[in-house]
Amino acid sequence: MSERPDSLITVLDVGSGHIRVLVADLNDGALRYRGHGIVAAAGMRKGLIADLQPAIQAITKAANLAETSAQCTVEQCVVGIGGPHVRGVNSRGGITLGSRLREISREDVRAAVDRARSVSLPPDREVLHLLPQQFILDEQPGIHDPVGMVGNRLEVNLHISTCSGSASQSVITCANRAGLEVTETVFEAIAAAEATISADERELGVCVLDIGAGSSELAVFFEGSVAHTAVIPIGGDHFTNDLAVGLHVPVQEAEMLKCRYGHAVVTSVSQEAEIELQGIQGYAPRMVRQRLLSEILEPRARELFHLLRENLRQGGVLEAMGAGCVVTGGGSRLPGLLEVAESLLRVPARIGYPVPLSRMPQEIVQPEFAATVGMLLYTHRTRIMRAAEDQGLRAKLRAMFAGSL
Ligand SMILES: Nc1ncnc2c1ncn2[C@@H]1O[C@H](COP(=O)(O)OP(=O)(O)OP(=O)(O)O)[C@@H](O)[C@H]1O
Ligand SMILES: [Mg+2]
Repeated sequence: MSERPDSLITVLDVGSGHIRVLVADLNDGALRYRGHGIVAAAGMRKGLIADLQPAIQAITKAANLAETSAQCTVEQCVVGIGGPHVRGVNSRGGITLGSRLREISREDVRAAVDRARSVSLPPDREVLHLLPQQFILDEQPGIHDPVGMVGNRLEVNLHISTCSGSASQSVITCANRAGLEVTETVFEAIAAAEATISADERELGVCVLDIGAGSSELAVFFEGSVAHTAVIPIGGDHFTNDLAVGLHVPVQEAEMLKCRYGHAVVTSVSQEAEIELQGIQGYAPRMVRQRLLSEILEPRARELFHLLRENLRQGGVLEAMGAGCVVTGGGSRLPGLLEVAESLLRVPARIGYPVPLSRMPQEIVQPEFAATVGMLLYTHRTRIMRAAEDQGLRAKLRAMFAGSL
């Protein structure tokens, strides 16, 4: 069953609700769905791995299911990182190239990015992504790729996404113990964006919100690059827990009620409709108004988007959503959520479905798979970019040596 490892890409999404493994292969340079495995999460608490053994077992099971479905051996994977420990900051820095004007090289760009990233990070913070927003060459802003241009001072505006070193290490350790070597880490909101938004939205300005089980990761794009990343510590499970407490039912029943009858806007639910609650064992079933569910869910939905709005305001990007807000992740399935998003953010909102890969089954083309599919697309795109850079460097070296002969 072994195959050239570089013709396969495997991603592992260790979510608070589910663990997902997705395998794709490269067919004439394009990604093609190969197989997947999904199991309920175990050993997770508040978006972090709290118990290694159950987490390792769950990852192993998801990887085995993916291997069977993809008919290949999975040895390496790219891992998604999410949870309230992820943060983003913007930074600016640059280099002076010397007294004479000269052509900017790829190494100069790296040096400028290095200077901009050298903001002091607190201990135990790890860099997840260094995302250049724009380069400024001799005071001229708005440059996307300065390589080959001529100038004297090169500066860069950089978005730096960081996470807790120990939290990401726990995920990597679990993957390793499940027999998977981790080659890369990707912030889940960046991945979700990769699968759900268009180039036009990136340019005009858009916020992508991935509402998972334990938390909601977000990334804002403006003028083609990442302007802001953050995490709101509320996910779909908070809605479920509110129902469990408010209706006096077990969490499992609350989850079923939310998915079957839930709505985030009270006035959209008929006043007459009633539903039966089984309740906690030992208590008699009861009838309640269906509206009662929304009376519990709506305040939570409003809180989520209120916190999002405050986060965007503090990040200076509230006015940057020219295209609107794309809501994805399993939590985005709650009917009425888009209305709440639109009323609090005052921009259009839509659900983010991942772009389907060739041969991908319909069950994967769903919001809860947006980050997982996006991890594949992100990995594929960055590999192509790196290969092109390496090729450019090799061509340059060849030219240099040819010239010196
Ligand atoms: N039909 C539905 N209506 C409302 N909520 C739903 C529906 N289907 C799923 N959800 C919610 O989506 C959440 C799970 O989303 P998802 O699978 O994206 O999370 P995860 O990736 O496992 O977690 P995280 O990203 O927080 O680590 C759960 O809270 C679940 O209740
Ligand atoms: Mg998730």
